[in-house]
Amino acid sequence: MADTSYMARKSVADIVGSAGEEGSQALSKTLGATSITAMGIGAIIGAGIFVLTGTAAAQFAGPGIVLSFVLGGIACAFVGLCYSELAAMLPVCGSSYTYTYATLGEIFAWIIGWDLILEYAMGAATVAVGWSGYIVSLLHNVGINIPPILAAAPGTVVKLADGTTATGLINLPAVLIIAILTTLLVLGTKESARLNNIMVAVKLTVVVAFIALGVFFIKPANWHPFIPANTGEFGNFGMSGILRGSAVVFFAFIGFDAVSTAAQEARKPQRDMPIGILGSLIICTVLYILVAGVLTGLVPYGELNVPDPIAKGVDAIGLTWFSILIKIGALTGLTTVILVLLYGQSRIFFTMSKDGLLPPLFARVHPRLQTPHLSQILIGTVVAIVAALTPISVLGEMVSIGTLFAFILVCGAVIYLRRSDSDASRPFRVPAVPVVPVLGILFCLLLMAGLPLVTWVRLVVWLVIGLIIYVSYGRHHSALRFPERR
Ligand code: ALA
Repeated sequence: MADTSYMARKSVADIVGSAGEEGSQALSKTLGATSITAMGIGAIIGAGIFVLTGTAAAQFAGPGIVLSFVLGGIACAFVGLCYSELAAMLPVCGSSYTYTYATLGEIFAWIIGWDLILEYAMGAATVAVGWSGYIVSLLHNVGINIPPILAAAPGTVVKLADGTTATGLINLPAVLIIAILTTLLVLGTKESARLNNIMVAVKLTVVVAFIALGVFFIKPANWHPFIPANTGEFGNFGMSGILRGSAVVFFAFIGFDAVSTAAQEARKPQRDMPIGILGSLIICTVLYILVAGVLTGLVPYGELNVPDPIAKGVDAIGLTWFSILIKIGALTGLTTVILVLLYGQSRIFFTMSKDGLLPPLFARVHPRLQTPHLSQILIGTVVAIVAALTPISVLGEMVSIGTLFAFILVCGAVIYLRRSDSDASRPFRVPAVPVVPVLGILFCLLLMAGLPLVTWVRLVVWLVIGLIIYVSYGRHHSALRFPERR
C-alpha cells in the first residue's frame, strides 16, 4: 500500500529504475563527458565574474575579493562532492529536488523544487539583465545607442547621453535574449549542446586572455591595502566585508549543480556526472581567483562599481580593441549561462510533473523534437517578464540565498542516504562522510549569514507561496502517494 503521508519518500531503487523508462515521454541520451563539463562551465562563468566581481570589490571587500572567491570555492567544493555522489547514484533529471524526495520526503522535495525556481528561472532572469548591460555597452562602441529607458527595469535610474538621468521603463534586450534561447531549446537538446560548446570555448578564451595579458600590467600598489579597514558597519570591508563579498560573488559559482539536471540525457551518467560537476567547478574556481587578482591589480577597487568591470580592467591596459573583444566574450558567456539555466528549469519541472506535483503539461515531450516544448515556452515567457521588470541587484541576492538553501539539503541528503540506503550502488563516493557534507552545510550557512535580512525575508515569503500551491495542487495529485489517481 502507498504511503500517503506528506513525508512519503521515494525509494532509491524506484528512482534509478524510472531513469531507464522508454517511450514517447523519454528524453534522448545524447550528452557525453565533454559536453557535460562544457555545460557546467557554460552555466558557471557568467554575470558573477563579468558583473558582480566589480560591484563586490568596490562595495564590500576591496582586493580581498580574491579571498571571497576562495571562500566561495571551498564551500562549493564540499557541496560539489555531495552532488557528484547523488548525481551518479540517482541519474535522473531533477537535481536536489530528486535527492530530497529520496531522503526527507515529498513535502520537502516540493519545497526544494519550488526553491530551485529561484536558482534556475530567476537566475536566468538575473543573467539576462547582465547580458542587456553588456550588449548596450557594446552597441554603443559601434555607434548604436539603445534608449536607456528601454534597457532597464522600472524604478532603475539610468544615465542619459546628455548627462541627465531618467527612470527605466522595460528591459527589452533581456527579453530578446530569453526569447532567442527559448526557441533554441525548444528546437532540440543536441543542437543547443553543440552551440553551447562553441560559446563556452569563446568565453574561456576571453577569460584566459584577460588573465594572461592583464598580469603584465598589474600595479601592485592597487593591492594595498589588500583588506581595506572595516568602516564600522558589518559587511563594509574588513573581514566581514570579505564574507559579504563571498555571499554576493557566490552567484558566480551557481551552475555546477545544473549539470545534475542533465543526468537523464547523459550517455554514462555514473562516470560523466562526477567528471562534469567537479571538473567544471575546479576550472572555474581557479579562473575566478586569477581574474579577481588581476582585475583588482589593474584598477583601484573603488572604481570597479560599473556594469562592465572586466572591460574597465582592459581599458586600464589601454587596449581598446581588446575591450570590445572582452564585451563579445562576456556576452557569449552570459548567453551560455542563460541557456543552461533555462534548460535546467524545464528538466526540473519535467520530473516534478511526472511525480504529479505539477500539471502534466510540464512533462509533455514533443514527439519529433524530443524536448518539453510547452514547459520551455511557459518558462521563457515568465522569465522574460521578470527580467524585463526587475533590477539585477534584487534578483541576484534572491538567487544566491535560494541556491545556498538547496545546497544545504543536498549535503544533508548524502548523510541521510548513507544510513537509509547503505547498500545502494554508489559509483562515486564522497570521502570522509559525514565530515565533508557537514562542512558543506556549515560553509553554506556562513555565506547565507552574509546576506542582508531583507533577502532572508523574501526567501521565507517565496517558500510560503510555494506551500500554498502544494496544498492546493500537488498534495492531491502526487503520483507517489496516490498511484491510483494517475
Ligand atoms: N554562475 C552564473 C553566473 O555567474 C549563474 O552568471
